Amino acid sequence: MSSTVLLGVTGGIAAYKVPGLVRLLVKAEMRVNVVMTQAAAQFVTPLTLATLSENPVWTDMWGQRNRPSVEHISLADSADIAVIAPATANIIGKIAGGIADDLLTTIVPALKCPLLICPSMNVNMYRNPIVQENLQKLTRVGCHVMEPDAGYLACGWTGEGRLPEPEAIFEAIVGLIGPRDLEGMRILVTAGPTEEPLDAARVLTNRSSGKMGTAVARRAAQRGASVVLVAGPLKVQPPIGVRHIPVRTAREMHERVLDEFPNVDVVIKAAAVADFRPAVSGTGKIKKQDLGSSLNLVKNPDIIAELGRIKAKNQILVGFAAETDNVLDNARAKLKEKNLDLLVLNDVSKPGAGFDHDTNIVTILHRSGRQEPLDLMSKEKVADRILDRVVKLREEIMCGKT
Ligand code: C5P
Repeated sequence: MSSTVLLGVTGGIAAYKVPGLVRLLVKAEMRVNVVMTQAAAQFVTPLTLATLSENPVWTDMWGQRNRPSVEHISLADSADIAVIAPATANIIGKIAGGIADDLLTTIVPALKCPLLICPSMNVNMYRNPIVQENLQKLTRVGCHVMEPDAGYLACGWTGEGRLPEPEAIFEAIVGLIGPRDLEGMRILVTAGPTEEPLDAARVLTNRSSGKMGTAVARRAAQRGASVVLVAGPLKVQPPIGVRHIPVRTAREMHERVLDEFPNVDVVIKAAAVADFRPAVSGTGKIKKQDLGSSLNLVKNPDIIAELGRIKAKNQILVGFAAETDNVLDNARAKLKEKNLDLLVLNDVSKPGAGFDHDTNIVTILHRSGRQEPLDLMSKEKVADRILDRVVKLREEIMCGKT
């Protein structure tokens, strides 16, 4: 992603969260132009934000003299999105009133891109009818206003007014600049391992971290889909903006997936479901010497195979397969047997692929027999490629081609 974010910072205590936001944006390969008000510079130094953004920070209209460009216009023109975080009652009032008396408020009227405003202030200030009216006015004219979080405030009050965490603001930014081509689509994603209890202390599980499935859920939500994530114990945070249903065992996952299935258009099953579970699992701890004889396994339900049997014509089913031997033949057979529309084949023996990595190497197999090998790429990018194929399939279904 190589978008340019214009980040306006105003003078609230929550400015201490801005360095975290800048880091997330830079990590996602975005260019960040920070513009600070004089008051903001009392809370976080321009040097901190210049260092983290790897860019000069703009603090006033007149600081950078003798430059040929008209700074406030070039900053506005180059932005793919503008964000004001934290946004004080003062800046909200000024923007709503059309005032342009410093660099940031002079840039705002010149913007051609979406503007995201993240209010942060004392709860009584936030609830003040004038502030509320200003926010409503900004929403009416097309600005995006992010609801503040509620909780303990630095001023000692408790209530709404906290700046959302950098991760949540980052998600909102990505959602506003990226394509919204999944708008209206309902997608169920499964992720993570399942955990099959043997006794009070021991479980059978596998090495899935949940990174691939959560990447799919995150990108689907960012691209506008309504996403439900049924996930076993994850080693990563579930994405913001998805409905997360945590489960533990394969049987719980089976039950929750079947509950949700009639209400979705697409299922992407990235979970590494344990194929077997202990035949009996007690509440006590089995003695070490009895363990060998206690380990009888029974098969878990094959969730995706069941979905393949009951799916409606317009539902799309995407499976994953983690293989190490004879990978293509096994995967092709699986796609057919389980009645899938797409199968994402993961050769987990390749370096940089599979469990726990941030990257993956996959081949996407289509029903038609077509197979698309993809290069090593981040799991987010793999997620996007899968979702691109889902969009295509959906268009074909809508046009009655399949
Ligand atoms: O057969 P295999 O386990 O390799 O198939 C992997 C695919 O099947 C994944 O999409 C996985 O989520 C799904 N699966 C399932 N229920 C199982 C086992 C696997 O839905 N019991």
